Amino acid sequence: MPGTRNPAPATDLARTVVFAAFIAVLGIFPGFYLGGAAVPIVLQNTGPLLAGSVLGARRGGAAVALFVGLVAIGLPLLSGGRGGIAPFAGPSGGFVLGWIVSAVVVGLIVQRGLPRPGIATLLVANAAGVAVDYLIGIPYWAAFTGDLGAAAVQSLVFVPGDAIKLVAVSLVAVAVHRAVPALAASR
Ligand code: BTN
Repeated sequence: MPGTRNPAPATDLARTVVFAAFIAVLGIFPGFYLGGAAVPIVLQNTGPLLAGSVLGARRGGAAVALFVGLVAIGLPLLSGGRGGIAPFAGPSGGFVLGWIVSAVVVGLIVQRGLPRPGIATLLVANAAGVAVDYLIGIPYWAAFTGDLGAAAVQSLVFVPGDAIKLVAVSLVAVAVHRAVPALAASR
């Protein structure tokens, strides 16, 4: 964009690391299991949505990939203090991997609303981000149970909470874009 500057690589890296740390902090909130689902309801999935909403596709995706990589090498950053390969070798692993794609999709849609994405753009972006995570997570979950229909039906327990989360993330992201327009301008 004319009149805007890309941040220095160190700033770029710092934002990415800060968001990865933010997603890790969200893991402090314990997940809980509802309706017999083998996948927990968590607050942590708001992190990837916010990363894509605020940092955009490239840096948001990188922040989530960094977080997922740290989990995979054994850091106990998932809710309940879980980490290592085990969480990926179970029903919820696809949702965690899907968070990377989710952040990228959210970022790509939000970038279309630049320089100042409004609430409608952010709501669409975050709804798409949640949907993409379901599209990856549910078949992955079904690969462990052999029943795609049951995984899809059991996933309905996530919908009310995720709807609230995506609205909250969208409102926060609108406020952030208003407060720090340079963030969006520098993607
Ligand atoms: C884990 O901690 O093992 C990952 C949990 C993944 C939970 C998914 S994310 C999308 C959906 N919404 C939720 O609240 N839970 C599931």
